[in-house]
Amino acid sequence: MGSFPTFNTRTQDLLDSWLMQISSELAEYAAANPKKPVAPFAVNLVVHASNTRLESDRVVVKKHQVPFVITSQGNPADVVAEVHEWGGLVFHDVIRADHAKKAIQAGVDGIIIVTAGAGGHAGEINPFALVREIREFWDGPLALAGAINDGMSMRAAEILGADFSYMGTRFIATEEAEVDPDYKSMLVDSQISDLIYTDTFTGVKCNFLKPSIARAGVDLANFEAKTHVDLDLGESNAWKDFWSAGHGVAGIKHVLPMAELVEQLKEEYRGALSVPAFNVIADK
Ligand SMILES: Cc1cc2nc3c(=O)[nH]c(=O)nc-3n(C[C@H](O)[C@H](O)[C@H](O)COP(=O)(O)O)c2cc1C
Repeated sequence: MGSFPTFNTRTQDLLDSWLMQISSELAEYAAANPKKPVAPFAVNLVVHASNTRLESDRVVVKKHQVPFVITSQGNPADVVAEVHEWGGLVFHDVIRADHAKKAIQAGVDGIIIVTAGAGGHAGEINPFALVREIREFWDGPLALAGAINDGMSMRAAEILGADFSYMGTRFIATEEAEVDPDYKSMLVDSQISDLIYTDTFTGVKCNFLKPSIARAGVDLANFEAKTHVDLDLGESNAWKDFWSAGHGVAGIKHVLPMAELVEQLKEEYRGALSVPAFNVIADK
């Protein structure tokens, strides 16, 4: 299933037209391929109080009855109540177990664990630790995010206790991604050491590609850092000029067509299904 942050559309009119296009193309595909499954689609809504476009975005999301909404950075309760009215589902991004408990109380349908090394506003906790911690009190749908690039990692996430893998950075290095071609090349060329995890731009810690900051002519040492959380990215250049990537950047070697990447993920996942258990334990 695919998702995009509503921030990716600069205006609500554009959001409206993207949602119209996605819904109608999926409907056309479903009509032409009645035997094939058709995934729903999602949008990401930042529900932090600093997001001044949240209410206007919600109006458009409601108009299109978006089937799946991913919330982050705040209390998702209002969005959950609204999306449930049309039978949609809400998954919430969390970086800590106490955030997951609050989201569950707010009635979310699923949890997305955003761990250390993820692209965007990454967490700081190791995936092994956090998945197991959250699985102690949540047996509902669980997605894992953070440096998942390939089918082996997807299988590992499943074994750890996740139901879904959630990927961001890897999909930016695809032919279809509508980003600056230099961003794609930077993803192919960069290593983990090229990242900086900083709250300078939004007041929330986020992984950025250092070469993109240099390319924008910005010297971080002299840059006026945000002193409070400000996720109102409408007019900001935090995502336009400073490019984000997670630790998975080290594993990105090629810009691929999306369909090829998906096939590669499937093949790797199938391969990972037949990896034998650690012999030393399994034989006993
Ligand atoms: C450039 C970039 C922008 C992102 N913007 C958002 C966003 O607006 N809302 C959101 O919920 N997540 C956002 N994310 C985070 C992704 O939803 C996801 O959690 C993350 O990319 C997963 O980690 P990975 O990049 O290591 O695969 C962004 C990630 C990247 C790389």
